[in-house]
Amino acid sequence: MYKDPKASFKELAYRNDTSIFRDDLLWDDFIKFLKFKYEDLKKVNVYNYACSNGSESFSLVMKLLSCLGKKDSEKFFPIIAKDVDSLAIENAKSNSIPIDWFEKSKINLHTDNNFAEYFTKDFSSNWYDGETVFYCPVKELTENVRFSKGDIMKDYKRIEPENSVVLARNFWPYLLEDIPRLILRLAEQMGKNSTLVIGGFDVNGCKNYNIDLRQELLKKGFVATDDPLVFTKHHQLRY
Ligand SMILES: C[S@@+](CC[C@H](N)C(=O)[O-])C[C@H]1O[C@@H](n2cnc3c(N)ncnc32)[C@H](O)[C@@H]1O
Repeated sequence: MYKDPKASFKELAYRNDTSIFRDDLLWDDFIKFLKFKYEDLKKVNVYNYACSNGSESFSLVMKLLSCLGKKDSEKFFPIIAKDVDSLAIENAKSNSIPIDWFEKSKINLHTDNNFAEYFTKDFSSNWYDGETVFYCPVKELTENVRFSKGDIMKDYKRIEPENSVVLARNFWPYLLEDIPRLILRLAEQMGKNSTLVIGGFDVNGCKNYNIDLRQELLKKGFVATDDPLVFTKHHQLRY
């Protein structure tokens, strides 16, 4: 039932497509949600699985810093970022990230025109395709993310059971027959005050395998929030 005749698991699993401030998530609302949900806590454990080249982790750091300021963002750091693909992790750690003009404008939009505060041009790279330039993320970004290789199917056991935020976005359809197993594992591992964030590609892509990912998460004990991609455990908070 899960077989995709057009692509082998390996082929699909290593698709690293990502972008800074990927549009499926309502970033402003998400930060508001984190601010209020975790208002009374001193430490929140944040995980970014399937982080690819780090674009998503850096987006979250920028958005937290620019909306909450340094002091109130600190409890969300460091972000533990993992990907099963060692090349993706090598790229994420390389201190050089490709950014096209559209991503650059999104960074300015999301950070009050502060692109230059977060990235400097990577003069060691001579790659230029007319749209994409390589930039070095500043220390404030790199110091707040810990990148390492990890397969969520095994690594999920490292998620702190309480007060955790797990971004596990835009890779679920690649798991094929492991999709139901991951739903179950996260539902068991993630407890009180935890938040799971999935991606638009996950909701749509899982339908191809006859899985309604949102419904399955709800059946296993996750609670819907106002954002269809964000789920919590035990507490629902409307904002
Ligand atoms: C399409 S990218 C998504 C990147 C990012 N999360 C986003 O939303 O832009 C999918 C990533 O999932 C990773 N991936 C696939 N299976 C994984 C697994 N079992 N554990 C961790 N990462 C995985 C791939 O290596 C790839 O980098």
